[in-house]
Parts: sequence; structure tokens; C-alpha cells
Amino acid sequence: MTATLIDGRAVAERLRERVAARTAELARHGVIPGLAVVLVGEDPASQVYVGSKTKQAAAAGLKHFDHRLPASTGTSELIALVEQLNGRADVHGILVQLPLPAGVDSAAVLAAIDPAKDVDGFHAVNAGRLALGQDATVPCTPLGCLILIREVTRDLAGKRAVVVGRSNIVGKPMAQLLLQNDCTVTIAHSRTRDLPQLCREAEILVAAIGRPKAIAGDWIRPGAIVIDVGINRTVGADGKSKLVGDVDFDAALSHAGAITPVPGGVGPMTIACLLMNTVNAAIRSRA
Ligand code: GUN
Repeated sequence: MTATLIDGRAVAERLRERVAARTAELARHGVIPGLAVVLVGEDPASQVYVGSKTKQAAAAGLKHFDHRLPASTGTSELIALVEQLNGRADVHGILVQLPLPAGVDSAAVLAAIDPAKDVDGFHAVNAGRLALGQDATVPCTPLGCLILIREVTRDLAGKRAVVVGRSNIVGKPMAQLLLQNDCTVTIAHSRTRDLPQLCREAEILVAAIGRPKAIAGDWIRPGAIVIDVGINRTVGADGKSKLVGDVDFDAALSHAGAITPVPGGVGPMTIACLLMNTVNAAIRSRA
């Protein structure tokens, strides 16, 4: 058996087209969704991510407002900027790129964002609403993962799901989303005992560990849906830099029913969901 590939690029493109259509409709009513992006310091990976976010926002017809600040920027300065953005009618979404430089109180900066403009879904109000099953802005990566899972099957009720990783950005909200879709959910982490055996029970396996090929092929239940959130830069056998996921993809292919590749799986979905969250915030701001 060879797994079906879940094409995140194609699904993300369709989502971006829907976002662009809704943006055009909003523009006819005089509203252009606006996304403010705050980048502090010179982290190369963050610069690449932020560049992609603003480029794709512009391509979908959104306005973006870039705030690039030196690594020396302090917590109070950042909070003052966030408060100013909270007050602007043309900014519907605020994204503060993480990680912030050491010494900045990231939690305080994120807490300063108006929950209605928190398009990352990181604010405690949105995390709490999600946990309570209320209307919430959902973090982009787990939302993208759920959309990909639903591309494979809409029949999630009762499915055994294992989320490997307990971060606030991916693992915890992913587990909440699967629970809301009536899965039986287990969150595994670095202290979990017998991870291979736990993974073998998973009909849906989401890997968000941040370690290359940490999940072996024979940990995967035959026919499972495997969603690989990992984006790890490694050096291939040819000495060239290569991106690999948290799952040993080649080994997993003969076990899984469906699997996301890296790159081209979850990655493209994250930005598409960010644009969707921003347009939704713009729509809600009119109500
Ligand atoms: N850093 C890595 N991923 C993300 C993300 O989804 N949002 C923000 N704000 N920062 C990140």
C-alpha cells in the first residue's frame, strides 16, 4: 500500500482564491482587510516567513502594514505599537512574528493585542474560547491541519487522534479542534511513555515535535492519516540543504493511508489560514 499524498499547495491555493474573492466583495463595500505585521530583529527564518506573509496578503488584495524594528526594541515600546495598531480602523489583523528577541516579554506583547484583531489566535481570550467551544480565532497552523484532514475524510467522529507536541501554537489548539470534531484525542510530548505504541493506535497522527524524522515508519498505523507539521532544515546525502518533516516520510509511505509531504503539506496552509482569519476579522469589524 502506498499512501495518498495530501497536496497542501493545491488546497492552500484554493483557499487563497476564496479569500481573494471575499476580499474583492468587501472592497465593493468600501472595506479593504488590513494586516499589520510586526517583525523585531534580524532572524533570517522570521524574515522569510514575514516576506511570504506580506507577499501573499498583497496577492489576495489585502493591505499590509509592515513594522520592522531593531532587535534592541523593548517590551514597552512594542506594547505601545500594538496599542496604536489596536486603535486603527484600517488594521483588522495584527501579527507579531515569534520568536521575539530574548529579553522581550512575549506574553505581555501578545496579551496587548485586541482579541478581535488577534489573527494568530494566540491571545488567551481566543485560546479560552476555543477550549470552551465558543466562536474563536483559531491559530493558523492547526486550522490548516484540520482543513487537510477534512480533505481526506469528513468522518472524524470517534476516530483516535494522537497529537505529538504540546505547544500553545500547534499541539494544544490542534487537540482542541480534533476534540470539537468528536475525535478521541491524546496529546503526547517529550515525557510520554512508549510513544511508538501510542502512535500505532492513531487513526489520525499529527506530528508537531520539531525534530527531523522523529516518527519512524513502523510507528504508523496502517491506513492512518498523517499530518506532518515539522519543517526541519537538514543536510542531505548529497551535502545539500534539505527540508524534512518530523515523520520519516519515505518509510511512512508504505504504512499511512494519506500523508502530507514536507515541503508542500502543512506549510502553505498556515499563511492561507492567516489571510482567511484576517478577512474574517475585517467582516466581523463591520458588524
Ligand atoms: N513564528 C512561527 N510561526 C508563527 C506563527 O504562526 N505566527 C507568528 N506570529 N509567529 C510565528
